[in-house]
Amino acid sequence: MKKSDIQELIQKIESFNAKSHEDLEQFRLKYLSRKGRIPELLAKIGQAAKEDRAWMGQQLNKLKQLANHKFETLQEELTESQASSFNAREDITLPPAARDIGSYHPLTQTLQEMKSVFFRMGYTIADGPELEDDFHNFTALNFPPEHPARDMQDTFFIRKDEENPANDQVLRTHTSPVQIRLMKQEKPPIRAIMPGRVYRNESITAKSYCLFHQVEGLYVDKGVNFAELKQTLISFAEQVFGKGIKYRMRPSFFPFTEPSLEMDIWWETETREGQWMEILGAGMVHPNVLRAVGLDPEVYSGFAFGMGVERITMQRYGIDDIRLFYDNDVRFLEQF
Ligand code: DAH
Repeated sequence: MKKSDIQELIQKIESFNAKSHEDLEQFRLKYLSRKGRIPELLAKIGQAAKEDRAWMGQQLNKLKQLANHKFETLQEELTESQASSFNAREDITLPPAARDIGSYHPLTQTLQEMKSVFFRMGYTIADGPELEDDFHNFTALNFPPEHPARDMQDTFFIRKDEENPANDQVLRTHTSPVQIRLMKQEKPPIRAIMPGRVYRNESITAKSYCLFHQVEGLYVDKGVNFAELKQTLISFAEQVFGKGIKYRMRPSFFPFTEPSLEMDIWWETETREGQWMEILGAGMVHPNVLRAVGLDPEVYSGFAFGMGVERITMQRYGIDDIRLFYDNDVRFLEQF
């Protein structure tokens, strides 16, 4: 072993640079590990001439210290630069940020609840078009030609047919026309609900909007009676609003039912004093309606109802303005 050998090693070690942890590991294996260059040289001291041992030991220890120091410095540098490049992206030790996954619209939630109540009572489901003709929306439902509901005030007329007014096209003003379509299509016993969107050309207030949702119901068979209708509605209300719900039924009028009723529930919110709110109309299917679809009113009877999904939802959640359903304001929606 010559002094110049050691000198050469010192230079090599001093000028070494590691780009990665792998480079550094190569360095460690080459110089510092048990079979590395430095331990190898240290082991040779014993075989060297006596007078050389002192300077060899001195030089080699210096070399060893240098290599160790180099190793530690490089390791620190590498770890630091790795950490700072992670920081630039994200702190991998943080828990993941929760993602907004959205939720069902409150109307959808109420509709799902209403459906499951009626499914349990043995009802099936049906639907019909939102763009209706005059015949299904009015005539077959026993609306006289001069009935105010046909007035431009209430109905969005889409197309007038001068030759045949029964073909006038309207945005359906209620889901009752689906009853007509269903009774023409199927034979009793019929027991179905018909949910859907309806449109009215009305002034917009906290309780009414130009479009809303209804769930129509129809039960037609031999011997269906008014007591069953009342019991169905009470049972519905208790399941959707809870047993303690305050409700009332009032006699009413619809061209397509006789007798007819309306049901109100007590509506109270944080911002509003309690008041009655109408949530549905119902009645025994009018004989003229049964005749219009080819059923004999002497043989068959039935009851029907039409419920307002928005108002039912307003009472369930204490919502004080129907317009909130259609604003798409996430501050409202994320509460459900
Ligand atoms: N169609 C009525 C409305 O929109 C509600 C209604 C009343 C539906 C009585 C019915 C019924 O089926 O029997 O106001």
